[in-house]
Amino acid sequence: MNYENILLAKEGRVATITINRPDKMNALNHQTLNELGHAFDAVKDDAAIGALIITGSGEKAFVAGADIGELLEVAGNDTGAAELAGYGQSVFRRLDDLGKPSVAMINGFALGGGTELALACTLRTASTNARMGLPEVSLGIIPGYGGSQRLARIASPGVAREWILTGDMFDAAEAHRVGVINRLFEPEALLEGTQELVKSILVKGPIALRFGMEAVLNGWDMDQKDGETLETQYFGKAALTEDMREGMAAFLEKRRPNFTGK
Ligand code: COA
Repeated sequence: MNYENILLAKEGRVATITINRPDKMNALNHQTLNELGHAFDAVKDDAAIGALIITGSGEKAFVAGADIGELLEVAGNDTGAAELAGYGQSVFRRLDDLGKPSVAMINGFALGGGTELALACTLRTASTNARMGLPEVSLGIIPGYGGSQRLARIASPGVAREWILTGDMFDAAEAHRVGVINRLFEPEALLEGTQELVKSILVKGPIALRFGMEAVLNGWDMDQKDGETLETQYFGKAALTEDMREGMAAFLEKRRPNFTGK
């Protein structure tokens, strides 16, 4: 697929997707969602890639939301808006199935669908000048790309209510305080800081990384006891891998492990 609205780059084991509509603050129109879905699949299928970074082009925005002009076109239609929401959700959900960590690198405004895309990633880094929020109520709608559900789970139901009902923009420090942003960097350090974070993850055992992500994600809606049963299953499976033997042998031999993903 030839991408018009995104850039997909690979460097070593890290793929980077840059949403590239800077004149529209990288707003997500249908074409961009489509391209993102395609790129997520390409990253998933590429065994040489271990992690994904998603960011926005330009100095100002990560993603300023769904494309409002396009939303208005489908809004009057009985099923159009719901279909668009379902489509956006299905694209973002592919990040859950990536089998490798994704990091939203938030370099400016992440509003509406931008905050929702960031929440769909495994982790979020941001520059101190990032601004996040779910302003949909100001437009007479609510978040439609999974944001009401993910924010309640990643931060808390109370934070989700505050963000959704006020539609306010929150600065990076506040988003960090409530647990939406994992790591905060000065703007000039964002890229390097994010790359360092990804690098520190990629030296770990790839099977353990996948199981760790799946244990959290698949246990998301379980009660403590069922969640612990799930954890036990992943723990047992991880303990059967060659990576487990290598990781423990390396510790005892005081050397770096050489994980093979087996
Ligand atoms: N959809 C479509 N176009 C958008 C957009 C969106 N979500 N967000 C920004 N743009 C466009 C603007 O219409 C403008 O286009 P134009 O130059 O053709 O007029 C361009 O991007 C620049 O935006 P502008 O508003 O002039 O920049 P700003 O620096 O004054 O403000 C924002 C930046 C992000 C605060 C502001 O653009 C904004 O509030 N965007 C909408 C956020 C939103 O409600 N998102 C949720 C959508 S459901």
